[in-house]
Amino acid sequence: MSNIEQPIAFSEKYLKTTWVTEVCDYYVGNRTIVVNLGNQKAHIAENPEKYLLPRTSTILKDITITDGDSLLLIEIAGDETNIGGIVLEPMLWNLFGNIADFPKDVPLYKSTQYDLGIVQFDPYFVTGLCDRPEDSNIKEYQLKVNWWFAPAKTNCAIHIQHMVPDFLEVHTQIYGIGRMQKFHANDFDTLYEDVILSPGMTHIPFASVNEDGGFIYPWHQYYSDTDCIWMANEFHPL
Ligand SMILES: [Fe+2]
Repeated sequence: MSNIEQPIAFSEKYLKTTWVTEVCDYYVGNRTIVVNLGNQKAHIAENPEKYLLPRTSTILKDITITDGDSLLLIEIAGDETNIGGIVLEPMLWNLFGNIADFPKDVPLYKSTQYDLGIVQFDPYFVTGLCDRPEDSNIKEYQLKVNWWFAPAKTNCAIHIQHMVPDFLEVHTQIYGIGRMQKFHANDFDTLYEDVILSPGMTHIPFASVNEDGGFIYPWHQYYSDTDCIWMANEFHPL
């Protein structure tokens, strides 16, 4: 079996999304954001040969992906008229303040979350604390993904922890221009780093790892410069 395709319903109208596992010579025709959510490099069939690393993404068009164990493909070639209506699609999206302990006056919307397999990695390597992975540090993680939407100029809330134990998160920009920001404290005036995101980009992890192997974060938030759709890729320790 190869090229096992599974549609992922973040939207019925916009940004057709397909999860492909056991990738073997998979042709990408339309302009598509490709996110490597697996354990292996995904090689791209052109000379010189290059590849997409795990937990990174790019935009591809008219090219074959040679291999890879788990890729999420988001077609961005379709009609985007009324795309802000994505959050009105019933059953798929909620105002975050309606489903979580979160301010209802922040226009942050969350899609359904999906489990997209179990992956393995060395958390010290993935967060940059060591230069190469060590077999003895490899752990398993359940990958969960959801999309977020916010209109332009939304502070999506500074936070330092998501849950206990915490997961590793990275975000893939899908639509619009946004940024991930770091702060010295839970205070917008203490900003010390901006990571600008345009469609097809995934930022490197903000997390570090504590003595127990758990993920720890600086104060951080997502900020939308324009209307934005982005994907949270969460790796939950098992
Ligand atoms: Fe976060």
